[in-house]
Amino acid sequence: MTETVHQIEQEARERLALAHSADELENIRIYFLGKKGKLASLMEQLKTLSGEERKSYGREVNQLKAFLENALQSKKAGFGPVRQEGELFDETLPGIPPRTGTVHPITQTIDEITRIFERLGFEVAEGPEIETEFHNFTALNIPLDHPSRDSFDTFYTTSGHLLRSQTSTVQIRVMQARKPPLRIIAPGRVYRPDAVDASHSFMFHQMEGLMVDDRITFSDLKGILHLFLRELFGKETKIRFRPHFFPFTEPSVEVDLRWGKGWLEILGAGSVDPNVFEAVGYDPKKVQGFAFGLGVERIAMLRHGIDDIRLFYENDLRFLKQFS
Ligand code: DAH
Repeated sequence: MTETVHQIEQEARERLALAHSADELENIRIYFLGKKGKLASLMEQLKTLSGEERKSYGREVNQLKAFLENALQSKKAGFGPVRQEGELFDETLPGIPPRTGTVHPITQTIDEITRIFERLGFEVAEGPEIETEFHNFTALNIPLDHPSRDSFDTFYTTSGHLLRSQTSTVQIRVMQARKPPLRIIAPGRVYRPDAVDASHSFMFHQMEGLMVDDRITFSDLKGILHLFLRELFGKETKIRFRPHFFPFTEPSVEVDLRWGKGWLEILGAGSVDPNVFEAVGYDPKKVQGFAFGLGVERIAMLRHGIDDIRLFYENDLRFLKQFS
């Protein structure tokens, strides 16, 4: 029985995969492409055919030949330059280190913040980026007519879902799934239909924090955030708590960082609103807690003196290499 083009191709692929030296490759080349090789005998059979059959058979054999030539060549290149006989090889020379990637500055910032909170007993939680209105708004005590629910401020899918616009969704998911006490931080991507410029992106990262127990007071919030910001920005860091409003916390604050001669807003926080506890099935008379949320890009930009948020997403190695 004569072998088919397909069978020979199979055999070639198997032998190529097992070849580990230039010598072996040369043997393979002779075996298949040599004067008396497999392809030559395939060509012999061409004589027995005629017309269309002959044409398509010829095409198949030629394709196999091209495949073999290419495969042999690229495999050979993979073995590196062939050393000539008698050539000196100094095995004490240091090798050429392979180029490795580095951790992205956003991930570095998330890791650093996570490490600080892990030392305070917080654990990392995650939630989905495609969310329900319930988790992104309703359970967070955000009223139906709140402007953030508008399609100018949130991406909606055609299936009635949305891309989460804040990591506060993870507070809801964790509380629905577990009982207090809880100490979690939740880093992740959030999405808002903002026009992209030096300080806005339609996608960015936030980190959420939540602590719930039977007696958590506003001074726990102040103490932990103070400690956190000093760990991150240095022992001399000055902060201030400024009254603010968030639907999901009561009372709420914005925390500012002393920066040069002014103050910079760095995160939002507050005591968890009783309505939020009710939405997840906790008894607001029995539990208390605090929550906070911060923008990761903003913190990374402040710490590294980066003035354009778009630099984080362009994958420009000249930028990224500075954070290795
Ligand atoms: N979700 C808020 C935002 O995207 C940030 C925030 C503020 C989160 C206060 C909180 C909080 O948990 O208590 O602007």
